[in-house]
This record gives sequence, structure tokens and C-alpha cells, in this order.
Amino acid sequence: MADSERRVVVSGGSSGIGRATVFTLAKEGDEVIALGRDSGRLAALERRARAHGLNVTSRVCDLTDESAVQALADDLGEISVLVNNAGTAQGAPLPGTSLELWERHLSTNTTFAFLLTRALLPGMLERDEGRVVFVASTAAHTGSRYAAAYTASKHAMLGLARSVAAEVVGTGVTSNTVCPAFVRTPLTERSVSRLAQRTGREPEQAEAALARTSPLGRLIEPEEVAAAISYLASPLARAVNGQSLTIDGGGTQR
Ligand SMILES: NC(=O)c1ccc[n+]([C@@H]2O[C@H](COP(=O)([O-])OP(=O)(O)OC[C@H]3O[C@@H](n4cnc5c(N)ncnc54)[C@H](OP(=O)(O)O)[C@@H]3O)[C@@H](O)[C@H]2O)c1
Repeated sequence: MADSERRVVVSGGSSGIGRATVFTLAKEGDEVIALGRDSGRLAALERRARAHGLNVTSRVCDLTDESAVQALADDLGEISVLVNNAGTAQGAPLPGTSLELWERHLSTNTTFAFLLTRALLPGMLERDEGRVVFVASTAAHTGSRYAAAYTASKHAMLGLARSVAAEVVGTGVTSNTVCPAFVRTPLTERSVSRLAQRTGREPEQAEAALARTSPLGRLIEPEEVAAAISYLASPLARAVNGQSLTIDGGGTQR
């Protein structure tokens, strides 16, 4: 897989980890297509990328719509790298977890990735080259309080990634997962403000409480996750398949 010929799709490319991944891969010479719902944010992303001379375009896509995802995939043509990053997170104790909250997590964090991968994998297999990288979470490996829907959705994502890996064994396609702990993104900012509201703390104190859950004593930067994605997406990672790379400073070791 020659770097210069790669076309990359990043779901949830308009914000946080997805945005950092778009810039990291585009700076490495890839043509990157960012997916999201918010056309304004995607247009701003494109403008910023253009200002830096980067080849970034975007598509608004409702990833809940099966036929829209297939139509998008047909329209995109050859894709060498798919980064399944779009996601959502909202905590609640189990008795307070509504069916809507549960289904929203499974849909956004798992079903989107399933639909995109199902749509783009056949082309990769046909060309015998491709990389699928899933952005899961440390929550893909461990259970934690007040996060049943998120945790279940990320365990499911990890299972999906491993199943894809098993199906592509022996081909030029790989499927791997990155599993970060708390990352400094708008998603985490929203979690911090909900935590602050619930506990009556200042947002800075709430963020510090999250940071203390890591042996790093800080949040992870989106670029650190993007660097791991870049490696798993690289030609040199061709021997790595079905793996999960945890990015948490060693807080969990497996
Ligand atoms: N932040 C963390 O601490 C952390 C830790 C571990 C794993 N992760 C995972 O990393 C991924 C990215 O998270 P982030 O922190 O970067 O979040 P973020 O800043 O909130 O970005 C989420 C992205 O997903 C897209 N998205 C959300 N819902 C969508 C939907 N229904 N349809 C299409 N796109 C949707 C958003 O785009 P639009 O809103 O424009 O549609 C946005 O681009 C998620 O899968 C998350 O679970 C995050």
C-alpha cells in the first residue's frame, strides 16, 4: 500500500480525536474524507485544512441510515483506510439508563462502525489492501460505574473489530482497535461539565478528578491517539491484525 495513493475515511472527523486524526493523516500525505452530521463544522475543518495545504474534504452523512451509508460508500470509490471514530458518551447509573440512551450508544458507537465497515471492506478485500482502525476505549476492556451503555457499546465495538480481523486473516487488510482513557476533547468537556453539575464542583476540579483516574495524572491529548491510529493505518503495520492498543499510561495492563 503506497502512502501517496491512500484515500482515508474518518467518521466523526469534525471534532476531537477524529479531527486530530484527519490532520495527522493528511499531513502524512493522505487524502482524507471526514464524515459528520454538522455541515458547518465540516466546512470549517475543510477551510482550516486547505489553509495548511492539506487534502481534506468532507461529507455530511447520517450514519444511522443504512442505505445512505451504502450510497456514500459507493460514491466514495476506493478507500484504503477506514477510521471508525464517530461516537457518543453519556453516563448514567443502570437504573437511570433509559432504553433511548442504551440504543443511542449501541447505534452511534457500534452500528455506525458496522455499517461503514460492511460497506467499505469488500473494496479493500478486492484490492487485497486496506486498514480498518476502530476507536474504542478502555471501556472496551473493563466495566465501570455509571457507564453501562457506553461500556457495552465499546465491548461490542471491540468484538466487531476482532471479528473483522478474523475474517481478513491472510489478506492485505487488517482490523485493529485503539483504546484510550480520557482524552481532551469536546466529548470529555461535556462529561466534565455534567460531573461538575452533579457534584457541585468547579469544572477544573471535575477535570482534575478525571485526570487523577490515570497514572499519567492528566488527560490524553487527541494527537497522541491520532499517532497510534496513524501507526495501525500504516503500511508497516501490515503484520498487526486483531489487536487492541490501550493508551492510558499503563493504568490497565493486559
Ligand atoms: N474523549 C475521550 O475521553 C474518549 C476516550 C476513549 C474513546 N473515545 C472515543 O473516541 C471517539 C471520538 O470521541 P471524541 O472524544 O473525539 O468526541 P467528540 O469530540 O464529541 O467527537 C465526536 C465525533 O463523532 C461524531 N458523531 C457523534 N454522533 C454522531 C452521529 N450520530 N452521526 C454521525 N457522527 C456522529 C461527531 O460529529 P457531528 O457531531 O458533527 O456529527 C464528532 O465529529 C468516540 O468513539 C469516543 O467514544 C473518546
